[in-house]
Amino acid sequence: MLQFKLVLLGDSSVGKSSIVHRFVKDSFDEFRESTIGAAFLSQTVKLEKHQDVTIKFEIWDTAGQERYKSLAPMYYRNANAALVVYDVTQPDSLVKAQSWVEELKHKVGDQDLVICLVGNKLDLCETDASARQVDVEDAQAYSKEQKLLFHEVSAKTGAGVGQIFQEIGEHVYER
Ligand code: GTP
Ligand code: MG
Repeated sequence: MLQFKLVLLGDSSVGKSSIVHRFVKDSFDEFRESTIGAAFLSQTVKLEKHQDVTIKFEIWDTAGQERYKSLAPMYYRNANAALVVYDVTQPDSLVKAQSWVEELKHKVGDQDLVICLVGNKLDLCETDASARQVDVEDAQAYSKEQKLLFHEVSAKTGAGVGQIFQEIGEHVYER
């Protein structure tokens, strides 16, 4: 089995831990506590495109609070993939995500790293269209320009979460 290291980065409360828990445990917690330092989890995926390939992701879920920012390089160093997460209802969180993308490209280089931009909390726009504060077209255009993978998801409903890891799996495997 192939093992790849994946790191999650992004502002506090955008839903990094919730995405990981949806992927690893298929569960969601309305009252998840903010991560302290970082958390480690692992999960395997069977690639749909390459039937005989199973990938194990070793996942570092970092803490988004500003006071932990200096720890991030420990987790993104040697990473094969990064999920940079923002909240589709919080435009500032996209600005923060973009600064993580710049830091990753500067410090790790996008030759070695598969980066996926992820807009989370899509369920909030489905119940109330005015909740959306980041246009999907804008995030998509930015991702294209920066050569990032891009997904909008909901950790709450699970929509799109599996696709992130399938697509990243294919990319790290084919690299
Ligand atoms: P830090 O650990 O502080 O960096 O935050 P985080 O990015 O890990 O966020 P976390 O997963 O703890 O989620 C923050 C809050 O948002 C929690 O109350 C979650 O229940 C909620 N949340 C996360 N994902 C979703 C989602 O897809 N939809 C909705 N409606 N709420 C979500
Ligand atoms: Mg967290």
